[in-house]
Amino acid sequence: MGARVVLFGATGYTGARTAEAMVGRGLQPVLAGRDADRLAALAQRLGGLEVAVAQVTDEESVAALVGRGDVLVSTVGPFATLGTPAVAAAVRAGAVYLDSTGEPPFIRAVHERWGPDAERSGAALLTAFGNDYVPGVLAGALALRAAGDGADRVDVGYFISGLGKGQPFSRGTLRSLAGIGTQQLYAWRDGALHTEPAGARMRTFDVAGRPRPGVTIGASEQFALPRIAPGLRTVDVYLGWFGRASAAVHAGARLAPLLSRVPARAVAATADLLTRRVRTAPAADALAGARSHFVAEVFDVTGTLLARTRLTAPEPYAITADLLAWGAQRAAEQGVHGTEALDAVTAFGLDDLVAGAAEAGIVEST
Ligand SMILES: NC(=O)c1ccc[n+]([C@@H]2O[C@H](COP(=O)([O-])OP(=O)(O)OC[C@H]3O[C@@H](n4cnc5c(N)ncnc54)[C@H](OP(=O)(O)O)[C@@H]3O)[C@@H](O)[C@H]2O)c1
Repeated sequence: MGARVVLFGATGYTGARTAEAMVGRGLQPVLAGRDADRLAALAQRLGGLEVAVAQVTDEESVAALVGRGDVLVSTVGPFATLGTPAVAAAVRAGAVYLDSTGEPPFIRAVHERWGPDAERSGAALLTAFGNDYVPGVLAGALALRAAGDGADRVDVGYFISGLGKGQPFSRGTLRSLAGIGTQQLYAWRDGALHTEPAGARMRTFDVAGRPRPGVTIGASEQFALPRIAPGLRTVDVYLGWFGRASAAVHAGARLAPLLSRVPARAVAATADLLTRRVRTAPAADALAGARSHFVAEVFDVTGTLLARTRLTAPEPYAITADLLAWGAQRAAEQGVHGTEALDAVTAFGLDDLVAGAAEAGIVEST
């Protein structure tokens, strides 16, 4: 018997896929969300699960979802506007918390704003426990282990290949992306976290035999990898989803100081409006043949490459659902190492994370 697992956001696209992955692993999560009828229908489809109604605008209803030692998984996003009540509830209860965010300002807030409170209450916070940004943390940790002493810089790249026709993102992802483009993000430079816009740097990686460009983004690696290798002076994470448009994103980074003055709520309202007609789910054809690729390269202080790790995996939504389900089950049955804001390697140990990631189809490639 493990701890109770509560999945908040279960009726969303990512939430429903996570619920299915949890049930597939033998878990019986409590399905939580704001719509009682849709929760009941999903619970019935998945074999008869407990449900709980909670609404982000009523913080007490979210707090009531979770007790000490429970595992709370949240897929309620955009996290910039909807994510805080679930973190606050987990911190208050002393629970283990995992979420599906990919939003850098939210990740930063979990580490800097909520981490110290979590340490005091005995909660463990695992933010961005999906495609964003577990595989890069894992690849980075493996490359650091292979590099041995002398690591000074790590570059991580995220790529996708084989996308078919149609909308490749869920509506939830598009709404969350809109918020990121206008925010000041962060980088790990000279051994400290610095604020800088998305796309401030650009470089090319060799991915499946082809040169592919990527632009920088704030992620989990800037928090995780310096904890794993305290001597690291630089950590950069590159997003390679923009293809040839990467140069335009890189150039657009100069507008970030201006755009970041637009209040987050105004950005969220505009994104809501613009994406109203977008389908909730990505097109099945777009994702069917897609592969994810992750690269981590470790350099010494002279810029010499010490080690490179490549991982390959299925499409991002499959990885996210499977990682969240694995992480929730591991946390419920065996607990996690530590309290406060953790990263996947610290929470589970590198070798166990390698095994868990492999269950999600994330494996080393040449
Ligand atoms: N890290 C990654 O790699 C990754 C992968 C996948 C998704 N994501 C992120 O995960 C988030 C969810 O994505 P999605 O595709 O599942 O989006 P979605 O289908 O729009 O789901 C959003 C969920 O939030 C719920 N919600 C919205 N407002 C709420 C409120 N006031 N109170 C309670 N619940 C509320 C929705 O409830 P209803 O069902 O009642 O509308 C729904 O369950 C997004 O931020 C996305 O960017 C990240």
